[in-house]
Amino acid sequence: MAVLPDLSVDIGDLKLKNPVITASGTFGYGTELTPFFDPSLLGAIIVKGLSLRPMPGNPPPRIAETPCGLLNAIGLANIGIQAFIEEKLPVLTKIEAPVITNIYGHTVKEYADLAKKIEKVEGIAAIEINISCPNVEKGGIAFGTDPDTAAAVTERVVNNTTKPVIVKLAPNVTDITTIATAVESVGAKAISVTNTILGMAVDVTTRLPKLANIVGGLSGPAIKPIALYLVHKVVAAVTIPVIGLGGIMDYRDALEFLLVGARAIQVGTANFVNPKTAIEIVHGLTDFCSREKVSNINQIIGGLKTM
Ligand SMILES: Cc1cc2nc3c(=O)[nH]c(=O)nc-3n(C[C@H](O)[C@H](O)[C@H](O)COP(=O)(O)O)c2cc1C
Repeated sequence: MAVLPDLSVDIGDLKLKNPVITASGTFGYGTELTPFFDPSLLGAIIVKGLSLRPMPGNPPPRIAETPCGLLNAIGLANIGIQAFIEEKLPVLTKIEAPVITNIYGHTVKEYADLAKKIEKVEGIAAIEINISCPNVEKGGIAFGTDPDTAAAVTERVVNNTTKPVIVKLAPNVTDITTIATAVESVGAKAISVTNTILGMAVDVTTRLPKLANIVGGLSGPAIKPIALYLVHKVVAAVTIPVIGLGGIMDYRDALEFLLVGARAIQVGTANFVNPKTAIEIVHGLTDFCSREKVSNINQIIGGLKTM
């Protein structure tokens, strides 16, 4: 009988059975897609971004389709950390895959308070911090656009938890490597690259923006080449594991990110197109490795050949 390839990867101390993770905001609170497949088969699950208090998000329209991409301005609507812990986590912990909470705040203290709250909770394997949100103490400039602010928020979270801290970087910056090295230097255990890229769309008949918020975040296949480039840059700049995402629709897209050095990948917008995408990527990677006689997925990671 043929031996199946070993797809397991390590993200620091976090052991994943395969490198496929669902991206925050595209997989609800982890159970919405259970009618489609068993989430225990995934490497890990990242839940919708959580804040200290419930957030209603932006007014509609909050989503607009663009060629090859999706614009969203959901405004980080969520049920809040307390309701998540009480109502969602008990169901989620039955899934045999690590659960990673994605958190965001409007001040450094809010991030720290979220970390403190999560620290006491069992069943949460790691914290991913979304630093693409406005810092109200710095005139609304996103935490992730300045190395010092990115480091400050990361350090406060790291100091308030024993769980691994993954920092999810914002792509709208001049040099992403300065942010990546800044968060690594204060104890981030891994980096996710990338969040959505700022964009907008206009309805020429009504002359209105297609999003009530005017501006939104672009995701999906349109951003894949940019995301790959950013992963490539960050992998070269840091020693901690990098998790790649942005426009991954199938196993071949996932392989591109692994080849440029991502230790794992996340599936986002593709979940809206085909809710089974993540599990199909797990199967696709298994078949690819078998076909190519790759016994361990780690033999692919960082295997990009250059001239
Ligand atoms: C509808 C929607 C909601 C999202 N919500 C969050 C969120 O709450 N926190 C976060 O860090 N990223 C959020 N993201 C960003 C995704 O996790 C991901 O970084 C981005 O969409 C790029 O990956 P993709 O092209 O595979 O979707 C959201 C994306 C979409 C499309």
